[in-house]
Amino acid sequence: MKLAKAYIQRNFDRASASYDATASIQKKSATQLIDCLKKHFPTCHPDTILDLGTGTGYIPEILFYAFPESKFTLNDLSSNMLDQAKKKLPSKKVSYILGDMEVQDFDFHDLIISNLALQWVDDLYKTIRKFYEKSHFFAFSCLLDGTFSEWFKIFIDASLPPPIHWYPSRPALAHYIGSLQPSKYFCDTCAFDLVFSNAADFMKYLKALGANYSHQHIPISDLKNIIKIYRDTIKVTYKVFFCILSR
Ligand SMILES: C[S@@+](CC[C@H](N)C(=O)[O-])C[C@H]1O[C@@H](n2cnc3c(N)ncnc32)[C@H](O)[C@@H]1O
Repeated sequence: MKLAKAYIQRNFDRASASYDATASIQKKSATQLIDCLKKHFPTCHPDTILDLGTGTGYIPEILFYAFPESKFTLNDLSSNMLDQAKKKLPSKKVSYILGDMEVQDFDFHDLIISNLALQWVDDLYKTIRKFYEKSHFFAFSCLLDGTFSEWFKIFIDASLPPPIHWYPSRPALAHYIGSLQPSKYFCDTCAFDLVFSNAADFMKYLKALGANYSHQHIPISDLKNIIKIYRDTIKVTYKVFFCILSR
């Protein structure tokens, strides 16, 4: 099933102003991805850096300190997200590319990086190969199967069709990464938990992040039913895969 990218873009456009007050896990994940890069690839001193799905710019905010001399290119599908990033970052040494990372043609970069954006492409494996081949170092984090399983279970328990997302398994991803035969690679997984007072709060959270997308349409009546039925606290888990490859 193909992703409705116009709809995803609209959700992130609308969430651009609320994203920074909401995206604590995304910030932690960005920090962890860069820590892994520095720890496991200490020889990575990139002149050019491309951040895919940069959002409001968490990755470049951190990387500016680590690599103040580098030239940055920031990509996103959402123009409003790029506008938020532009407000934070010095204009010198930064260029912006609005567009879908899956179809956009990019120049070769020393480092290509992407934090929690690759779940929004149709063909994850093809996208990983594309950016591995366009860089010396490719560092990314993406969501794994099991992410938000607690939320999907609430729908199933209520006999309602759950939101549909496709996330890869760690073994499948690790196998694919190995098949690219990188000269060196590092992979790790991490779980991040969040607790919400009730179902309505979690729905508001997804909307404020721009992540309120499902492959199939969820009728408002189903969402209202879930809000009515499910008034307890909800713990949801992000399962995140961190990976860095060098050629
Ligand atoms: C969860 S946010 C992560 C943002 C940022 N990397 C961070 O660490 O906070 C996902 C971002 O990817 C962007 N995005 C989604 N699909 C994309 C695509 N196909 N090409 C480029 N950007 C995309 C969204 O607009 C959004 O800004």
